[in-house]
Amino acid sequence: MPHTVVIFGASGDLTSRKLIPALYLLHQKGRLPKETRVVGVARTPFSHDAWRAELETSTKKFTGKEFDATAWQTFASTIFYQRGDIDDAASFTALKSFLETDIEKGAPASRLYYLSTSPTLYEAAIEQLGAAGMAEESQGVRRIIIEKPFGTNLASAKALNIATHKVFSEKQVYRIDHYLGKETVQNLLVLRFANTIFEPIWNRNYIDHVQITVAEEVEVGSRGGYYDKSGVLRDMFQNHILQLLMITAMEAPVRYQADFIRDEKVKVLRAIRPLSGADFANCTIRGQYAGYREAKDVPPDSNVATFAALKLQVDNWRWNRVPFYLRSGKAMSCRTTQIVIQFKEPPQLLFGDGPRSNLDANKLVIQIQPAEGIQIHFLTKVPDAGMKLRMTDLNFSFSREYVGKSLPDAYQRLLLDALNGDASLFARSDEVELAWGIIDPILAAWQSPAAPPLEFYPPGQWGPDLSDQWMHEQKRSWFDVC
Ligand code: BG6
Repeated sequence: MPHTVVIFGASGDLTSRKLIPALYLLHQKGRLPKETRVVGVARTPFSHDAWRAELETSTKKFTGKEFDATAWQTFASTIFYQRGDIDDAASFTALKSFLETDIEKGAPASRLYYLSTSPTLYEAAIEQLGAAGMAEESQGVRRIIIEKPFGTNLASAKALNIATHKVFSEKQVYRIDHYLGKETVQNLLVLRFANTIFEPIWNRNYIDHVQITVAEEVEVGSRGGYYDKSGVLRDMFQNHILQLLMITAMEAPVRYQADFIRDEKVKVLRAIRPLSGADFANCTIRGQYAGYREAKDVPPDSNVATFAALKLQVDNWRWNRVPFYLRSGKAMSCRTTQIVIQFKEPPQLLFGDGPRSNLDANKLVIQIQPAEGIQIHFLTKVPDAGMKLRMTDLNFSFSREYVGKSLPDAYQRLLLDALNGDASLFARSDEVELAWGIIDPILAAWQSPAAPPLEFYPPGQWGPDLSDQWMHEQKRSWFDVC
């Protein structure tokens, strides 16, 4: 059956920077289902050709060396534009008739709606799709991708789920988190569940703690207006970082199928011990980089956190007493996303000179980006130096192993999965609500008089100094490697 992808918010940045380049590259690789058409919808008036011309320029820019003029021409002939306003019911009637008559020519077709508008329009768009009869499936499946953020707290996420379920059943809904589309995040599932050597030691008996770091070198730039309402907890923790935590901590699903995977992920969120009372001071750190308050659209007295570190416990058999340290920030030393599995020290230390610290125990470092790979750190004997030991590593790197093969952008995989009806790498309604249930109390505590102080840090370091001191007090230290 032919497919129609309908992008709401077609004149926005996400469409030109991510969605169209991803669809174009899928087309170029011959991966898009046969007869896939793309229809952009936004308020700006465009002719089909004017929109195509704009997208050609942006796609060239964002796909770089991969751009091929001939492949673009064939792809461009499958993209169309329809002016429309989310608040206007007549726009949806017109869109429906344009899709049925001009695009699908009266024949059945699968449809994938993509909400890439401002999140404040999600509910209205869903309601209009319902009112126009565009969610019902007599002429082919109807799926909808909803971009992040899915709500701004638990109450709004619940309201959005309710509004969505009035029109679409859960199996039609694809809540996107682009971290799940990253090759290295999927490879974490492969590392854990396609190998036998890691699983026996992937638990409280061998692991001291887990660190998940998502550090960004960039500052907020022109996104101050959005960021100041969001802050790092909403922007990075509720979604991307908790996704990484779930995949690191989950049990093996019975099969690689959407609901089996999501069932296991949800169990992890349920097992996370809610923070309360003194935990907010003891287990959370909030920071802001110096200069944030001068950014465009940021109030000069903003107390929004651009950095956070959290210590969470997953109360289940596998992870009892194994803390998960999570941290993320803007304006940090470098861009890196990594998961560090810090193993315990051996029970008795026979070799080496002087006292050892936890730093010397084995580590498994999963580099999600940008130097995608996996390293195992272990002690070896320095030759001809008595029994002196040194930490060395086994180092797997995607770029060395798969020479000349660049890692595709996350949106390619996710768009293709949604077109094919595979929701394995999308968040389910209970998952987003549970995630907000973890973040909301921290946000509330940070607004209260008992909030831990906002720590300032100069751009270009690993967050506030307190973050390092806090780890040292717990006889641990962050793995700060770019
Ligand atoms: C987005 C956040 O979801 O993820 C941004 O809104 C952040 O603030 C981005 O920069 C990070 O994504 P990536 O793929 O560059 O790590």
